[in-house]
Amino acid sequence: MAEPDKQEFTSILKKQVSRRDVLKAAGIGGAGILLGAAGVGGAFALADVLPDIQKKEKTDAIIPFYGKHQAGITTRPQNHIYFASFDVTAENRKDLIRLFQDWTEAAAAMTEGRPVGDESDNKFLPPHDTGEVLGLSPANLTLTFGVGPTLFTKNGKDRFGLRKKQPAELKELPKFPLDSLEERWTGGDLCVQACADDFQVAFHAVRNLARIARGKAVLRWAQAGFQRTKQASSKNETPRNLFGFKDGTVNPDVNDPAELNKYLWVQPGDGADWLVDGTFLVVRRIQMFIEVWDRTSLKEQENTIGRYRDSGAYLGQKHEFDPPDFEKKDANGEYYIPITAHVRVARGDGKEKILRRSYSYTDGIDPKTGTFDAGLLFICFQRSLSEQFIPIQTRLAQTDHLNEYIVHRGSAVFACFPGAKKGGYIGESLFS
Ligand code: HEM
Repeated sequence: MAEPDKQEFTSILKKQVSRRDVLKAAGIGGAGILLGAAGVGGAFALADVLPDIQKKEKTDAIIPFYGKHQAGITTRPQNHIYFASFDVTAENRKDLIRLFQDWTEAAAAMTEGRPVGDESDNKFLPPHDTGEVLGLSPANLTLTFGVGPTLFTKNGKDRFGLRKKQPAELKELPKFPLDSLEERWTGGDLCVQACADDFQVAFHAVRNLARIARGKAVLRWAQAGFQRTKQASSKNETPRNLFGFKDGTVNPDVNDPAELNKYLWVQPGDGADWLVDGTFLVVRRIQMFIEVWDRTSLKEQENTIGRYRDSGAYLGQKHEFDPPDFEKKDANGEYYIPITAHVRVARGDGKEKILRRSYSYTDGIDPKTGTFDAGLLFICFQRSLSEQFIPIQTRLAQTDHLNEYIVHRGSAVFACFPGAKKGGYIGESLFS
């Protein structure tokens, strides 16, 4: 087999042809063979010609970590999430601050596609970075950090001198009717929401943050989630959940600062100055009984949600973004959108708006029933829990028809800090 020369490879790669074309030009069929050929008998290493392309991918896929607000909130949802909740084991405030400083440094590096920590030549020590994303683009990675009520007081103890800083809003959610919460998916002192267009990149980020936290915080629970990827559809359409319905149509306009100040960002005077420009996050691990749903008629499914499955339009309307008409009745005098339809109950009088940013999950089989453990990692952000999420969920828990097909298994609330400034660290306002 004739070996390709460096010039030939470089010109192929500069034209940015596909990986298959590169292999064809080399006259070989597998990546392993290609690397072997270049490394053993070849006049050059493949890495010599790759950086141009990698650099391009990197600059295309970076979401700035520093800023007024944390990324990963109004950011257009990436394809994957790895959500992790931590319990703090640090015994003093100084170590807790150190954790946030170390996390900030690592997060800034990873979101730019740089490895965590310094490169070390000492082969007798574990590398700083775990290595599985070397050479990958950061894939629009965002890392969003928050603190739960138990960071401020746990079992009556003020471990870090933060009791006075606890926002009145930041307390455990009330128990809603039909909640079936399990300890293993509930609560947490800290959270990290890692979102990226590549799952390995998202997981790598949390894995490395957990590693950095050793001795200061331990994982309490974690959940992976997904949406359809850009490979499956490059159209910027609303993603569908595992019931097959478009999910995320109605949301505050993330390009309208006035709307975001009203519904999303904590404002001066709200009661926690350190949290101004931050927000409250609710996460609910909601199991969906997809086998039961799949045996349900399309009409019943659409009446349960209050929208048509295919178009995503409200019942009685044509297009996904047409406004609803809750008074409209069909020829039999029935409301198009039934009284118990999810969208009608969720909307109420329309005063409470939350920013929903949820992902589907699948987690093998539910050992109790032998059915899929699958559902929605429901995540929403809001300026006030008591005036937004809680009234909506109170209504849903009471009368939402969807309750026949879902059950809430996990829950947690966090206050997400404002963004960090370069040179500062995430969470700084809480400790200053
Ligand atoms: C597995 C559970 C859930 C499923 C499958 C689900 C599904 C949906 C779907 C398909 C829509 C219509 C499209 C859209 O506007 O996004 C919708 C709307 C909505 N959902 Fe959910 N949802 C779930 C849980 C929740 C929860 C827990 C809340 C809040 C407490 C919530 C709040 C809303 C709101 C506010 C709307 C928009 C209502 C409107 O104004 O039309 N949902 N949901």
